[in-house]
Amino acid sequence: MFDVKNEKQLAAEAAVGLVKEGMIIGLGSGSTAAFAIEAIGKLVAGGMQLSGIPTSVASEVLAKEAGIPLTTLEENPVVDLTIDGADRFDDRLNLIKGGGGAMLREKIVASCSKRLVIITDAGKYANPLSGFPVPVEVVPFSHHPIALQFEEQGLRPVIRQREGAPFVTDEGNYILDLQIDQIDNPQELERKLDLPGVVGHGLFTGMADELFMGDGNSVQHFTR
Ligand code: A5P
Repeated sequence: MFDVKNEKQLAAEAAVGLVKEGMIIGLGSGSTAAFAIEAIGKLVAGGMQLSGIPTSVASEVLAKEAGIPLTTLEENPVVDLTIDGADRFDDRLNLIKGGGGAMLREKIVASCSKRLVIITDAGKYANPLSGFPVPVEVVPFSHHPIALQFEEQGLRPVIRQREGAPFVTDEGNYILDLQIDQIDNPQELERKLDLPGVVGHGLFTGMADELFMGDGNSVQHFTR
């Protein structure tokens, strides 16, 4: 059995090999992206000039600890390269993200990026997408009617909880995790999620340009 942490670190370091002087870098969220933030911090410590845009409060904290100068989408609306994790990916590099609840900012930063590079361990591959719920971020006011509509469509929503209360995202919203066994048509599912009160979701279709997957002691590289 290979070490999943090692796979994450190998994938992260491979992606950080793409970072160049002067770039604006989107800093992803989650345990794999944390390895990338650490590696980018080492580039900065070595004298490379760059700026990062964190995709979550947690990543902002890590980036500050790593000594990465930060910027914003107001100052830099075009991001050169974003390096982020994923919970599942398929053969077309469609993704399920948001296990950590940061998918709204992650998708905003990804959509502003010239290049979105995903980093994962080998356990994240699933074609078709399956084995992980699809998180949908909803304005708290709307969560009950949206959950009813998702139930009617057979999407099996479960409100994400933390310590007996609804989990609250960085943007102050709730998450409905859809317990879908297998996603045969991600684009069709995306259309079903477009309800008033939904502010974002963790299905990323056609966004990732490439992906590094740690696989044992090596790294596999996929492009779309
Ligand atoms: C955070 O909201 C997510 O989108 C993460 O990118 C995803 O959950 C992957 O996390 P790990 O790298 O910790 O598996």
